Amino acid sequence: MTDSTTTAQIVRLDHVSKVFVTGGEQVSVLVDVQLAAAEGSVVVITGESGSGKSTLLNIVGGLEAVGGGTVQVAGYRVHTLDEFEAATYRAHSLGLVFQFHYLLKDFTALENVMLPAYMVGTSKREATARARELLAAVGLEQRVEHFPSQLSGGERQRVAVARALINDPEVVLADEPTGNLDERNSAVVQQMLFDLVRGRAKTLLLVTHDRALASHADRHLVLEHGVLKPV
Ligand SMILES: Nc1ncnc2c1ncn2[C@@H]1O[C@H](COP(=O)(O)OP(=O)(O)O)[C@@H](O)[C@H]1O
Ligand SMILES: [Mg+2]
Repeated sequence: MTDSTTTAQIVRLDHVSKVFVTGGEQVSVLVDVQLAAAEGSVVVITGESGSGKSTLLNIVGGLEAVGGGTVQVAGYRVHTLDEFEAATYRAHSLGLVFQFHYLLKDFTALENVMLPAYMVGTSKREATARARELLAAVGLEQRVEHFPSQLSGGERQRVAVARALINDPEVVLADEPTGNLDERNSAVVQQMLFDLVRGRAKTLLLVTHDRALASHADRHLVLEHGVLKPV
């Protein structure tokens, strides 16, 4: 499909389903999910715990296989990728932010942000410059040489946001990015994440149980027992 309305959809899921089988019992976690996100849009999906949010985001990120349906993101047919291809897709086209920061404890904030750039072959000089710029954008220019243990929870999550953008990805996926933070830090991290992706015209797909995060989205959808619908 090449008409402009479809090419402008940088994320597109068609009839995506997922069933988990545990102890012989089948649980339908995603049911015929349709999702299209326009390039540069901020889409927030809210839902209660267990509604399938992480499963959906992991499928978009090529971290989990679909049961059925198709997933197209930034020119990749994600549902067809093998593990190696999926890793390449993530490294080049995606930025990921999770509830837990996953920073490497023996590396400084600057090095943590630079690491994904090394993995795609960016020079040290360029990676350093980009990482410093991103850390400044999340207000951490005074913390670049700090190790994760020397940072607050909110600061660690801001480093994770900077790291997600280092490879200039088309799409940022965020799974409960403020889930471990208090209200004030949650608001700060959300603001910085939204400002960064909007300032750089990235597409953001964010899933959370926290409906407050949806108030600044371009689109708000809800997952209920695996069924995705408009609010
Ligand atoms: N690997 C798995 N095996 C079996 N069931 C799973 C697995 N991952 C998730 N589930 C089940 O799928 C449902 C949705 O989980 P999840 O996507 O993590 O929801 P959410 O992120 O909205 O809390 C839950 O009922 C969960 O127990
Ligand atoms: Mg989850």
